[in-house]
Amino acid sequence: MPDYLWFEGIPFPAVEYEKEIIEKIRDKFVLRDEDTVILTYPKSGSNWLVEIVCLIQTKGNPNWIQSVPIWERSPWLENQGTYPLLINKEGPRLISSHLPFHLFPKSFFSSKAKVIYLIRNPRDVLVSGYFFWSKTKLAKNPDSLRTYFEWFLKGNVMFGSWFEHTRAWLSMRESDNFLLLSYEDMKKDTKSTIKKICDFLGKRLEPDELDMVLKYSSFQAMKENKMSNFSLVPENVASNGLVLLRKDFSRMRPQWDFS
Ligand code: A3P
Repeated sequence: MPDYLWFEGIPFPAVEYEKEIIEKIRDKFVLRDEDTVILTYPKSGSNWLVEIVCLIQTKGNPNWIQSVPIWERSPWLENQGTYPLLINKEGPRLISSHLPFHLFPKSFFSSKAKVIYLIRNPRDVLVSGYFFWSKTKLAKNPDSLRTYFEWFLKGNVMFGSWFEHTRAWLSMRESDNFLLLSYEDMKKDTKSTIKKICDFLGKRLEPDELDMVLKYSSFQAMKENKMSNFSLVPENVASNGLVLLRKDFSRMRPQWDFS
């Protein structure tokens, strides 16, 4: 199993990532005013948010989410396989990224491109990451949850320290083109969160359209949607048994207070 690909102090997956591309994205990639970026530390609910934003775009019609893989609908900026999809794409782009603040495209800071940042309780991020990465062939895997916990505290895990990632990105929270959401709020009251996203993106949904967005982005619907549940992840990336939607948490998590 390969170790990580290290770039500027950040461990990236050793497969599907290249230093030159990560550097080029920071220095040369031009974000356009009409672009929307879903930004997360891994395992924070990124794909759930992508599914919701896709459904908002189609006003709740599930055709798109049921016919196109999620990583083609919202390609990963820093992944060498999906990055080319973004360069040639015309019109408003939906983009996913796990990049830490200091490696994000510099062009963002003088653009009106919108960023939605989703934060999740680090205990759940940790456990989710432990089970998910151990089914992939992307980097070295820990021998136990305890080992992974130690790596996590030091930031020696994919995309670096959760603490640094969230601290740096949260510094943007007063900006008009930045929306901060939490997984826990999204779980507790999905409808209100969808409305918040619509306001931020300048979209309007009729009540029945909103209900369709809710229905098709639910845990169960996503778990059954092969375009979104990672059952199409290729063999070179993951072994059999990789699941994105592991567990539907009914247990309540503490809410965030961003004031
Ligand atoms: P668990 O591993 O705790 O189950 P990411 O998309 O950033 O990799 O995050 C994956 C986590 O988001 C998983 O957490 C998964 O269950 C959760 N998730 C994905 N879709 C969801 C949905 N529709 N509703 C609630 N949680 C969802």
